[in-house]
Amino acid sequence: MESIQAIKQRFGIIGNDPKLNRSIEKAIQVAPTDISVLVTGESGVGKESIPKIIHQLSHRKHGKYIAVNCGAIPEGTIDSELFGHEKGAFTGATATRSGYFEVADGGTIFLDEVGELPLTTQVRLLRVLENGEFIKVGSSKVQKTDVRIVAATNVNMFEAIKKEKFREDLYYRLSTIEINLPPLRERKEDIHLLFRKFASDFALKYKMPTVKLTDDAVNLLTKYRWNGNIRQLRNVAEQVSVLEQHRTINGVTIQNYLPDTGSNLPAVVNSSKSESDFSSEREILYKVLFDMKGDLNDLKKLTMELMKKGSVSEVQKDNEHLIQKIYGDDKDEAFDAAVEDLEVLSIPQRTKTDESIVSDVEDKYHFAEEIEEEETLSLHDKELELIKKSLERHSGKRKLAAAELGISERTLYRKIKQFDL
Ligand SMILES: Nc1ncnc2c1ncn2[C@@H]1O[C@H](COP(=O)(O)OP(=O)(O)O)[C@@H](O)[C@H]1O
Ligand SMILES: [Mg+2]
Repeated sequence: MESIQAIKQRFGIIGNDPKLNRSIEKAIQVAPTDISVLVTGESGVGKESIPKIIHQLSHRKHGKYIAVNCGAIPEGTIDSELFGHEKGAFTGATATRSGYFEVADGGTIFLDEVGELPLTTQVRLLRVLENGEFIKVGSSKVQKTDVRIVAATNVNMFEAIKKEKFREDLYYRLSTIEINLPPLRERKEDIHLLFRKFASDFALKYKMPTVKLTDDAVNLLTKYRWNGNIRQLRNVAEQVSVLEQHRTINGVTIQNYLPDTGSNLPAVVNSSKSESDFSSEREILYKVLFDMKGDLNDLKKLTMELMKKGSVSEVQKDNEHLIQKIYGDDKDEAFDAAVEDLEVLSIPQRTKTDESIVSDVEDKYHFAEEIEEEETLSLHDKELELIKKSLERHSGKRKLAAAELGISERTLYRKIKQFDL
């Protein structure tokens, strides 16, 4: 059996913390078996190395290793990604496709952020874990596969079970062996070691001398909470390496790179969201998209007005509020520039009568609305199709179909009424 030290070297794992060593030892011990493993720990603690170790030290090492981030795949396509689909299973399924469970036959699948799996997928996963059986989306043929599962999560699975977001039976099946990785704040001895490693990596990468820490800087890093764990420490090391001219870093300087260190309040355990919680990135993106959509609608409205009235000053007067909203403080300049562009674009239409310009524009506008409608229509169709297929598969048994679709029986009942099924 390879020693813990050798494994660390092979997989680039830095640190001498006893809890970290114990986790690696567990991975080495469980690797030759086919037992499912659940890796737990906060975001950024280094969970992704564990399934790699397990795969490489197992008899499956010549088989495929597929890492799937369950949180990153849209709910509508995850079943098809994992288990494949039959031609015609849903709109757009023009050919039969193999899923990861078929492709990784004889290998290992790493299900990262497994707590994010929709309930319908959890049902399928439980089945494949229990007897190696799965069914492609839209098929009725049972297929067999031989895949070892290693899953990881940074959410509290007991909470998720309590809130009925995660199946209890699946949790026990996945976590036959649990490997927990300690947060960085509990590995104080490793903090400076990791910083030195990252600083030397970045010095090499950016062709600059390595930054060094004074004692008080080391002291601050050691006392810090590190909510983003090793990922955050690595980021700090990179920022300092790139931005600081003076290569000896003292406490005052390092403090600038550590959000919230001003107070010496104790770490909040299980705080739901912090600045370094990277799951909020998705929320930020959603917000940006919503804002953009709002802007687009405002612009559409303004353009319509301009086209209809043909008089910039009148439109500007009537829509002061909208213009302020879209262009903000620089509104005069930006608005004038936009209007200039618009006038250049609309020159050919000026030869038509006023009426025909308006109807032309209205047609275009109407077209845009239609696209939106079509999209909702096809979504509607897709949902209908999914419900129908699921009911068929379960010979009309609503309870089973609802569980597969990840909705409550009552919602399913409502949809059956709504779609007149
Ligand atoms: N012990 C370690 N030694 C060196 N780098 C590490 C260690 N643990 C984690 N890292 C690095 O930290 C980052 C986050 O690790 P990752 O496995 O993605 O975390 P998690 O999956 O737990 O969120 C990666 O860049 C990884 O290489
Ligand atoms: Mg990860």
